[in-house]
Amino acid sequence: MTAPDDMPGPSPAAPAAGPPAAPVLSARDVVIRYGGVTAVNGLSMDAFAAEAVGLIGPNGAGKSSFLAALGGQARIQSGSISLAGQNVSRLPAHARARRGIARTFQLTSEFSGMTTFENLVTAGHGAAGASLASVLAHPRRSRQQDLAMARRAWEVLERFELADIANAYGRELSGGQRRLVEIMRCLMRSPTVLLLDEPMVGVAPHLVDRMVADLKAIRDDGISLIIVEHALEVVRELCDRVVVMADGASIAAGSYEQVVKDREVQAAYLG
Ligand SMILES: Nc1ncnc2c1ncn2[C@@H]1O[C@H](COP(=O)(O)OP(=O)(O)O)[C@@H](O)[C@H]1O
Ligand SMILES: [Mg+2]
Repeated sequence: MTAPDDMPGPSPAAPAAGPPAAPVLSARDVVIRYGGVTAVNGLSMDAFAAEAVGLIGPNGAGKSSFLAALGGQARIQSGSISLAGQNVSRLPAHARARRGIARTFQLTSEFSGMTTFENLVTAGHGAAGASLASVLAHPRRSRQQDLAMARRAWEVLERFELADIANAYGRELSGGQRRLVEIMRCLMRSPTVLLLDEPMVGVAPHLVDRMVADLKAIRDDGISLIIVEHALEVVRELCDRVVVMADGASIAAGSYEQVVKDREVQAAYLG
């Protein structure tokens, strides 16, 4: 494992005196091109258990593309992505999801027509990978799975104080509640890495603090969060470490306080 020189100290997950922990997710020299456009130009970063990494940078820096590459929604031209030491670069998104990489998706019209509870159970079944054929072949097993998913959904709803919207349809939820349901859908699959692309978009200001607290709780459960976020006050409050991207590359990494002082970062933001 190679840690960039500018990464201060051992990872937060590392025991005080023991060997440094291995990263959960590791990206090396990732390149993403769309036709003639190079969206990501050789980016490397590590993410450790129980830490929140912020990915910031001006519009068009390549943040969403990089996140999509981690989740398997975007193809990489070169470089590698490893999860728990295994190269997953060539695995499709659903296979990475099974191995623990979760990414939020906006609730589509299909999910707007389901209750919160149904939304969570459906997401959980995605994880179990139950095909119709296997459900028909093993009806008892699928019933046990239904019960396990229902239990898990209630666990999540109660933990995050969402039980009161369990029976509300997706279309009835506020922007902030929808964002929460999107995140809780991911938690149904007990991920080790959670990827979030601008989770605060559409969240009313009075719900932002609650979202930040929920994300911290998820991190403190041991999950590695990688968050693209425009709102710098959210990044300052939530992220243990920040990677700043510009023109597809990392131009700075460190604590929020360190990177905002960086001249190159200030220049990139001012344009
Ligand atoms: N699907 C796509 N097809 C073509 N170009 C794309 C596509 N997605 C992103 N890009 C281009 O890649 C660059 C990085 O975009 P993006 O990853 O969305 O940046 P950010 O999320 O930091 O704003 C931009 O120049 C953008 O126009
Ligand atoms: Mg983006």
